[in-house]
Amino acid sequence: MKKIICLVIMVLGVCTMVKETPAEEKTETEVVLPQPDYQSGRPLMQTLQDRRTYREFGPRIINDQNLAELLWAANGVNRPDGRRTIPTARDSRDLDIYVLKQGGAYRYNPDRHMLELVNPAALRYTAAKQDFVKQADVLLVYVSNNQNKEYAAMHAGSAYQNVGLYCASVGLNNVVLGMIDRDMLHKELHLNEDDYVIIAQALGWPKKK
Ligand SMILES: Cc1cc2nc3c(=O)[nH]c(=O)nc-3n(C[C@H](O)[C@H](O)[C@H](O)COP(=O)(O)O)c2cc1C
Repeated sequence: MKKIICLVIMVLGVCTMVKETPAEEKTETEVVLPQPDYQSGRPLMQTLQDRRTYREFGPRIINDQNLAELLWAANGVNRPDGRRTIPTARDSRDLDIYVLKQGGAYRYNPDRHMLELVNPAALRYTAAKQDFVKQADVLLVYVSNNQNKEYAAMHAGSAYQNVGLYCASVGLNNVVLGMIDRDMLHKELHLNEDDYVIIAQALGWPKKK
């Protein structure tokens, strides 16, 4: 009887591992993102209560629905005239968000609400200077070409705070990262000369308790 119970526990353990282990992700030229569910997440005041930095991530992957919602929160279009979920000085809309996933690096196109491939390499592993980032499923990189660097930094701050709040509202972990390899990112993301990397943010589900 004991043996059977042990066997059942082992099988269940393996099944959970299989479910938790990320499958090989396909590299696609374009990824059409699902529409955000505007009813998802917990209320704002509870979310603010839970906002915090986490530097630990489990192996579960962030699905396209969550990715779509967090990118829309970061810099999505929320009005018919194309304006965004974040304010920008003189409505400059200068912030670009790059999404570094297992399958490659993509640029988020807010107007089309989709991802456009910029590099098939898994850059997220080399972009960060801290080891724990290697456990994160997704790395967001905030880029601007705004000549006013103070404004650009404020725009990135609005976006990473929106993402941080979205994470707190659905239970994702995140950490804002200033310690990143900006030169490598500039090169590998094929940025223009006047584009510059402001900051990054690592995201992932928590480890299972
Ligand atoms: C602009 C900025 C840069 C940051 N850079 C890093 C970083 O490179 N590495 C890191 O581990 N945490 C980084 N953090 C996270 C902070 O250390 C963290 O927010 C702070 O300790 C407060 O913790 P809390 O977010 O849980 O309130 C950064 C946060 C901000 C706002």
